Amino acid sequence: MDYKKHIAERINIYGVDADEIYSSIALPPNSEMGDYALPCFKFAKILRQSPVSIAEKLREAYKTDEKISEVSAVNGYLNFKVNKAGLAYDVLNCILSTGEKYGSSDTGKGKTVCIDYSSVNIAKPFHIGHLSTTVIGGALYKLYKFLGYNVVGINHLGDYGTQFGKLISAYKRWGDKDEVEKGGIHAINDLYVRFNTEADEEMENEAREYFRLIENGDREANEIFEWFKSLTLKYVQGIYCKLGVQFDSYAGERFYTDKMQPVIDELRAKNLLRESEGAQIVDLEKYSMPPCLILRSDGASLYATRDLAAAEYRKATYDFDKCLYVVAYQQNLHFKQVFKVLELMGKEWAKDLVHVAYGMVSLEDGAMSTRKGKVVWLEDVINKCVEKAYTVIEEKNPELENKNEIAEKVGVGAVIFGALYNNKIKDIVFSYDKVLSFEGETSVYVQYTCARANSVLLKSGELSAVPENYEPNAQEFEVVKQLAVFPEILEEAAEKFEPSYIARYAVDLAQKYNKFYIECKILSETGGKKAFRLALTKVTLQTLKNSLKILGIGVPDKM
Ligand code: ARG
Repeated sequence: MDYKKHIAERINIYGVDADEIYSSIALPPNSEMGDYALPCFKFAKILRQSPVSIAEKLREAYKTDEKISEVSAVNGYLNFKVNKAGLAYDVLNCILSTGEKYGSSDTGKGKTVCIDYSSVNIAKPFHIGHLSTTVIGGALYKLYKFLGYNVVGINHLGDYGTQFGKLISAYKRWGDKDEVEKGGIHAINDLYVRFNTEADEEMENEAREYFRLIENGDREANEIFEWFKSLTLKYVQGIYCKLGVQFDSYAGERFYTDKMQPVIDELRAKNLLRESEGAQIVDLEKYSMPPCLILRSDGASLYATRDLAAAEYRKATYDFDKCLYVVAYQQNLHFKQVFKVLELMGKEWAKDLVHVAYGMVSLEDGAMSTRKGKVVWLEDVINKCVEKAYTVIEEKNPELENKNEIAEKVGVGAVIFGALYNNKIKDIVFSYDKVLSFEGETSVYVQYTCARANSVLLKSGELSAVPENYEPNAQEFEVVKQLAVFPEILEEAAEKFEPSYIARYAVDLAQKYNKFYIECKILSETGGKKAFRLALTKVTLQTLKNSLKILGIGVPDKM
């Protein structure tokens, strides 16, 4: 079914390998020109000929067959028209026979990808800023699995640092066991906020002392800490469950407490450590970066120290081919430094570490800050979206059964899709009305298209076989072509770490299907035409479902 491959295998360009030809074949923007095109510009240098004459010669040599019906050379492009009936028949049958697996592959067979994502901080609110890392990471996790990779999802918990000393101090002063047990993470956060507003010098000292106690294994301090940790995890589990994300490891920063010393020793042995104002650093001036701080002057380790130890540990434990860090772009410098230090240590695998950076998410009514307690909790955003979804559904279709269940899928889906739809590095402003629009580029629109397709299929009864030699019309053929590129889109999304490609793909497919749906009759047709259109409907629904599933979004049967 891979027509690009079929074409690439039939083209010989002296000095250019088949893979390069394959990856150069593109979809022309205008389908009048052809269904596929090979731009010949970049071969001009190697062949010392003009692109126009290269295209012309390739055209003469190309033999059309049952898949490719026409080849033309225009302005340095070699354009191909496919046999439409053949492609349509192949695509429909392929999707009908692969079903839920359509788009999956074994590209990743034998390869391991670690994905560090969501990585929440204990006792701190899970706010809208964590939305992107959680859903981008979650989508990459599912995508790589679908492509046959062995995937390890890691939640690198922020469970280390002086703030835990502050929390214990605050709890001891003002806390109440039952209240915290009942209020969970919210109660803990209140204590944290209160500490930050009221703390004086004395309390700060006390907090440092409590942190030291945790570090030194003091029983009471550790019990309180572990209790806060379990309350936080219980809380985030609820959100992970809603968003459909999962982790294979919760080894957080604290896990590396005893794994940092060997790294520090190695840095010293390799003569990379320098003393600077009492602290231990790795000088990165040569690489135009500020120094990477390894130990503070009081001997305490840093965020970077723990990340160095974590990278070592992951390589030793999982032997990854790639290790991704899905973290906001604010940490660009941090990761550049950590990766550079590992490279300087001679770790050849440092090249396999990737910071998958993403932009900020803010709500329409402004950003938020944790320390002053003015935060927007992610759970509230999700709940509000589900409620609003319920209202919209109630308005559109009051007769619907299971409205709660549907509103949940629609509302949660809108939150995920809203965070995923744009190129990940862009800052986004989250708007409830926008993500819940039936008409926009939204998951709601895609889900609604699925419900529409589903209702056609419910009315149609048993499907008959896809007719051979059915010549699709323009609208049908647009859908067919869009269906055919799904596997390629998934590979590209994985290569560029961009779940947004899949989100956009789903919207495109839904738009093309809707155009077909509006302009062509389905159920009132007969014979081959009806059979073809029903099959097209069925495979579109399947492909939309497969796309949304990778993003963690469910599809209601009715809407
Ligand atoms: N907990 C950190 C934060 O909220 C993110 C951790 C990312 N992962 C890592 N290995 N540094 O900023």
